[in-house]
Amino acid sequence: MRKAGLEVEVDPDGNLIGRVLVTVTGTVTGTVTWTGEIWTGSHLDTVPRGGRFDGALGVVAGIEAVERAGAGAAVAFRGEEVGCIGSRALVARGGPLPRAFVELHIEQGPVLERAGAPLGVVTGIAGYARGELVLEGRAGHAGTTPMDARDDALLKAGQEIMRVADVARGIEGAVATIGRIEAEPGAINVVPERVRLSIDARAPDPDRLDALIASIGFEPTQRVEPIELSEMPRSVLREEIEARGLPVVELASGAGHDAGVLAAAGVESGMLFVRSLNGGVSHSPDELSSEEDVALAVDVLAGALRRLAAV
Ligand code: HGY
Ligand code: MN
Ligand code: MN
Repeated sequence: MRKAGLEVEVDPDGNLIGRVLVTVTGTVTGTVTWTGEIWTGSHLDTVPRGGRFDGALGVVAGIEAVERAGAGAAVAFRGEEVGCIGSRALVARGGPLPRAFVELHIEQGPVLERAGAPLGVVTGIAGYARGELVLEGRAGHAGTTPMDARDDALLKAGQEIMRVADVARGIEGAVATIGRIEAEPGAINVVPERVRLSIDARAPDPDRLDALIASIGFEPTQRVEPIELSEMPRSVLREEIEARGLPVVELASGAGHDAGVLAAAGVESGMLFVRSLNGGVSHSPDELSSEEDVALAVDVLAGALRRLAAV
């Protein structure tokens, strides 16, 4: 950020903000009304064995676009993968909330690749609820406890895992993932007495998210609401893409993003997706976007920042 000539701040929640310093020379007569900053950016954290693009692309491209536009600020939010804690802390603290926020992000899905389009404009961001299911059993000796005398928590967990998948399949657009299993006491020769299953449940709208949570039957410890992104940043992004003679594809995001947190706080938020290759795989080292598509995305992002700063 400093090399790009930005004024760098680490905010009280650990978010990194690089601003274009605006210097006003001469005398100002009358009143200057501060209309708020234009931000772009994403997150620097990722998942275990994640790819090189999820989050980091939006931060690096954001710095490049701010430098080219000579306007706005590039932000690296903390802890997006563990519940958008940096952007949620910023909102909880009361700001400063920008006038508009545009996040560049790899699509993390197959839509743009299938459509043959390098870029996409995000219409809305799926909501998610996270928590866990706990199955209770009774510890026992692996060698001396007959199969018909066991109360095996891991066998119960196996049935729950299949049931959770069926519940999600039964709700249009919903997904549910059990990514972590913890069996206690976790010894190879002890019948498990307790199993904790992590739950990540998502749906395109609040009603379906409610139905999914109720059908799975867990108490969310984290919930981020599904949200439609507002028309203003979407139209700016559409126009910037069209101005370059590129096809405009609009699509929803199944992944959560900091842009969703800011949109829910009333910031005019937009998202620009860059095509994922390799069938859209993400949260994997195989995550990939091409340099050509990224170059187009940075150019569109810089154009959008210039337009938003001029509004
Ligand atoms: O899990 C997500 O949706 C995002 O990658 N944090
Ligand atoms: Mn991610
Ligand atoms: Mn991400």
